[in-house]
Amino acid sequence: MMKRIILAAVFSLSALPALADHVRPVTDPETLKACGECHMAFQPAFLPARSWTRMMGQLSDHFGDNAGMASDKAERIRQVLVAGAADTGGGKAGRKALRGIALSETPLRITETPRFIAKHERISEREWKRPEVMTRSNCVACHRGAETGSYEDE
Ligand code: HEC
Ligand code: HEC
Repeated sequence: MMKRIILAAVFSLSALPALADHVRPVTDPETLKACGECHMAFQPAFLPARSWTRMMGQLSDHFGDNAGMASDKAERIRQVLVAGAADTGGGKAGRKALRGIALSETPLRITETPRFIAKHERISEREWKRPEVMTRSNCVACHRGAETGSYEDE
């Protein structure tokens, strides 16, 4: 009897992650390599297509870093990102990410989008500054499955 109760608890826990949206991860090897070098390769569904196009057009000035590359390679990667963007192939997660972003806006940071801010508003400044976190863009510090597109609470 006891054993059954424990099994039921284990089952419901493992079923939980399915409730959170799965965000389609980057699978294109070239994009994974080029955009996963300094940070994880962020899922394109978190930003609209116009954001990726703008970002890919100014890689030599990428958040203070130089992420420049040959223009034909940048164009191939741009196409991959645009195809999976919030307003194209990003699916349900993409539709949610779009909420609150005006058509006149072209955000370059996922961490400054209304959806990200709303989902993280309960996290204190102290938490963000922990040495193992350091920056909001360090998704994997808190979401261990971030690279596979899994953002359930842990
Ligand atoms: C040379 C290192 C480097 C490479 C290569 C690089 N980035 Fe970045 N990226 C950074 C840095 C540094 C930041 C700023 C991180 C921060 O402020 O927390 C950043 C931030 C970002 C952000 C915003 C994160 C946020 O705060 O929401 C996005 C989106 C992004 N990069 C996408 C890309 C894409 C797409 C590529 C591949 C084309 C790429 N990056 C390649 C260094 C790099
Ligand atoms: C300091 C830890 C921390 C960092 C860093 C962080 N998150 Fe989160 N995130 C959380 C917590 C905690 C929640 C759950 C909030 C809640 O449910 O109220 C969350 C929720 C989310 C959700 C909503 C999940 C759902 O389906 O309800 C998404 C999507 C998400 N984060 C994406 C990201 C992305 C993308 C990054 C990096 C750009 C990131 N997070 C960085 C802690 C973090």
